[in-house]
Amino acid sequence: MAGGSDALRRGLMTMRYRAYAYTDEADRSRTLEEDVRHGLTASPKSLPPKYFYDTIGAKLFEDITRLPEYYLTRTEAALLEKLAPRLMRDLAPRDIVELGAGSAAKTRRLLDARNGLPGTVRYVPVDVDELTVQASAARLVADYPYLEVSALVGDFEQHLSHVPPPVGRRLVLFLGSTIGNLEPLSRREFLLQVRALLQAKEDRFLVGLDLVKDVKVLEAAYNDASGVTAEFNRNILEVVNRGVDGDFRPAAFRHLAFYNEAEARIEMHLVPHRTQEVNLRRLGLRIALSPDESIWTESSYKFTRASTEAMLEDAGLRLEGWHVDADRYFALAVAAPSR
Ligand code: AVJ
Repeated sequence: MAGGSDALRRGLMTMRYRAYAYTDEADRSRTLEEDVRHGLTASPKSLPPKYFYDTIGAKLFEDITRLPEYYLTRTEAALLEKLAPRLMRDLAPRDIVELGAGSAAKTRRLLDARNGLPGTVRYVPVDVDELTVQASAARLVADYPYLEVSALVGDFEQHLSHVPPPVGRRLVLFLGSTIGNLEPLSRREFLLQVRALLQAKEDRFLVGLDLVKDVKVLEAAYNDASGVTAEFNRNILEVVNRGVDGDFRPAAFRHLAFYNEAEARIEMHLVPHRTQEVNLRRLGLRIALSPDESIWTESSYKFTRASTEAMLEDAGLRLEGWHVDADRYFALAVAAPSR
């Protein structure tokens, strides 16, 4: 926001901002405890990638998006920039729901393209972090006079049934290739929920997908020369330490990222340098670790037009638009209800 008094900002906020919370700090710490207990006692050991993003992790991810090797964010931004005017004009959404909205930096590319068009828009960001949602909403209502924000503080895999009914033609956004973090089964469940959000045949779903490509390009994006991704990966252990009073030593782990061609996914792991034990005091759990067994921290699935069409179809969605960059590194897919 460029200038503007706090009083004015508060005034705009009261008029044009609402938040509905379905999760709070207490549920989130309970969920983390269960996820850590489950993941670290399973075989193979794993941790859910959503735990990368504490304050430091979010900052490290920001740094990743600016790395020369990490083409995803900038490629999607350029595609969005190009597509936005057509999307806003032809689709003319009245209701925009954004899953995993974060700071809504990408959303602004769409909203900018709508400046000067008649009518108002209701924006429903869905994000687990209330403070992020609030800060982002304050800036949005100040910058876009046509916008009203009705935020849902919750997890996009759990709370989508609480998204309020549409107030007009709806556009659901799921950007950043976040869909790549979902395993096929939960991805299908998730897409069925998205399908349920589309209530009219004119409603649409816009999703950003990283595409299958040269293995060297894929692997470089997750093994950057400056080591930021390695630091990002190890930071999950700090999050776990804080969440369950653990004594992981992040420096005792090596970052491993590779493309699993058969599964069409990048896998990230943390490999212990040597045999060690960690104590997770709040869980009353000691875990033995050795270099033969890594902790699997992320899957990042990659798609083709055909695999996208199939996964959408499977959830009652029909691929209507397919927008890719000149290198075919990334796609924005537009889907409509198929039945
Ligand atoms: C947030 C899912 C887009 O898989 O590329 C970046 C996160 N992990 N480097 C991805 C990430 C390692 C990222 N997404």
